[in-house]
Amino acid sequence: MSDEIKAPTTPDSGELSRRRFFVKVGMTSIAVAAAGTGVFAYQFLSPNVLYEPSPVVNAGKPDRYPPDSVTLDPETAIYVVRDPEGYFALSATCTHLGCLTAFKQELGIIACPCHGSKFNRDGVKIAGPAPKPLPWLRMWLNDDGELMVDRSNSIATKQLVRV
Ligand code: FES
Repeated sequence: MSDEIKAPTTPDSGELSRRRFFVKVGMTSIAVAAAGTGVFAYQFLSPNVLYEPSPVVNAGKPDRYPPDSVTLDPETAIYVVRDPEGYFALSATCTHLGCLTAFKQELGIIACPCHGSKFNRDGVKIAGPAPKPLPWLRMWLNDDGELMVDRSNSIATKQLVRV
């Protein structure tokens, strides 16, 4: 006779571990599906907004611009032009295919490096394929005496800001 003590076995102990395995697989699948649904629901409910910088630019104090000058701000793509009578703003984006133009001090013109359009300092086209002049942009003085330019608001006629 053997004195060996055997652990009690249940007839379906193998069945139980298999059941636990499938329960875990099932729960994991449900959790993954719920997480995926949550991500898609969040994307669906979030506003589909493109965040862009404000079109209104603070161009600073008027006295930072030398008399009779055309100053390009490449970050905002605007020119601040100081005439003897006042200030005005032009878009620096070429009206042909949208390249950033540059002011040529020695020639006194605004030139586009892409296809050769040229504009005078009022934005009027003098050469090249650009179909329209450079747009004039609305400009005003804020309460602190700084020049403000609205890049989203072009104006039909040149308006000078007098300081
Ligand atoms: S983009 Fe300026 S001339 Fe073509």
